[in-house]
Amino acid sequence: MNVLKLTNGREISYLNEVEIRIGIDERNGEERYKKELENMGTSDITVHKYEGGFKIWECTIDLCDFIEEKCSMFSGKSVLELGCGAALPSILTAIHGAQEVFAQDFNASVIEFFTLPNFEENSHGAVVQGEAMGWEDVPNKLNGKTFDFILSSETIYNEDDYQALHDAVAATIKDDGVAYFAAKFFYFGVGGSVPAFCQFVNERGILVASETKVIEASVPRRIIEIKKKP
Ligand SMILES: C[S@@+](CC[C@H](N)C(=O)[O-])C[C@H]1O[C@@H](n2cnc3c(N)ncnc32)[C@H](O)[C@@H]1O
Repeated sequence: MNVLKLTNGREISYLNEVEIRIGIDERNGEERYKKELENMGTSDITVHKYEGGFKIWECTIDLCDFIEEKCSMFSGKSVLELGCGAALPSILTAIHGAQEVFAQDFNASVIEFFTLPNFEENSHGAVVQGEAMGWEDVPNKLNGKTFDFILSSETIYNEDDYQALHDAVAATIKDDGVAYFAAKFFYFGVGGSVPAFCQFVNERGILVASETKVIEASVPRRIIEIKKKP
């Protein structure tokens, strides 16, 4: 088992590579998810096939530290995590008393062999649902369901996905809900950035996005806050 240790010492457990592989082998994953898993071995991201869900990305730690700072907010609340991968941020909200968590990822193999087992490795009382879908399918598939909190880490690297991400948040955020996106300021060589994402969201006129926390580093990072426009 791997353990992510946060700045304040809190630990979140998640499956290591061997445990993921055992799960895949035991439940015939290679056969059932051939296309997704063949891409997993060759690169971190293969656009819209395998998008890095079996790895823990840097900004997940920022988002978890941020959740720790605001941990009293989550008790009894509903949480959606978009592009969850390991889902450590939403697991942390469950540890802090979230009542209901919906974890979404592009890859069904990630949800089955990584996301859901990770929830089981940590002690919490949340009702958890995990489902694979593209962001463009979130409004239809969640069919009017709304959440108090929406979380997302390392998902704004591709500007081509901004419309789908925007629409997913707009369709699922409660009127008084809030979304937190953790991201690198710039994704060098890929195109996405915090300013480009915030501008895109703000120009649509439905949501308001702003930077709420700065993480200074050689590649600086941010937490973005998104709310419904009043
Ligand atoms: C770079 S990984 C980040 C994973 C995790 N949030 C983290 O920070 O460790 C991007 C995640 O977003 C998901 N994703 C990427 N593009 C997507 C899309 N178009 N629709 C739905 N999910 C997508 C991937 O499956 C992947 O888990």
